[in-house]
Amino acid sequence: MILNIITYPDPSLKEACEPVKEINEDIRQLAADMLETMYAAPGVGLAAPQVGRNIRMLVMDPAGKDEPRQPRVLINPQIELSGEEVCSEKEGCLSVPMGYRANVMRKKQVRLRATDLEGNDIDEMLDGFPAIVIQHEYDHLEGVLFIDRISRLRRSLYDSKVKKWLKRKSAD
Ligand code: NI
Repeated sequence: MILNIITYPDPSLKEACEPVKEINEDIRQLAADMLETMYAAPGVGLAAPQVGRNIRMLVMDPAGKDEPRQPRVLINPQIELSGEEVCSEKEGCLSVPMGYRANVMRKKQVRLRATDLEGNDIDEMLDGFPAIVIQHEYDHLEGVLFIDRISRLRRSLYDSKVKKWLKRKSAD
């Protein structure tokens, strides 16, 4: 089932999420729905708070356009950043309206620890694009959006555009 994606400035996107306590049928169904929603959008990652669930869970697929799908479900992920700073060019987010994109500084490498849907422990190093995707999705679990990581000037310009856009939308 395709889920409704919550968008900025909905205050629920600013909340830190609670750990997943048990991998049950509800969580398995949510994972399937989140993957379906992400692919339909289309996007490369989606975090549970974006679909109204305040829990530490995300899905991602960093595969390139011509590569076979690599769907991943990560439960209670933890990340440790390392390596050099890199510019994530034209980062976007399914929860950030108007298709807004901006460059964001990220780290090149991430040590990822998490649990998968079968309850197995994951402990691996990610490098480059997958590392950037996990940093973006992990931020959602902490109530942070990529527009919280851009300059104040860019952010205020964007906020005023969103305000106008919301006004037009409510007038329709
Ligand atoms: Ni996002």
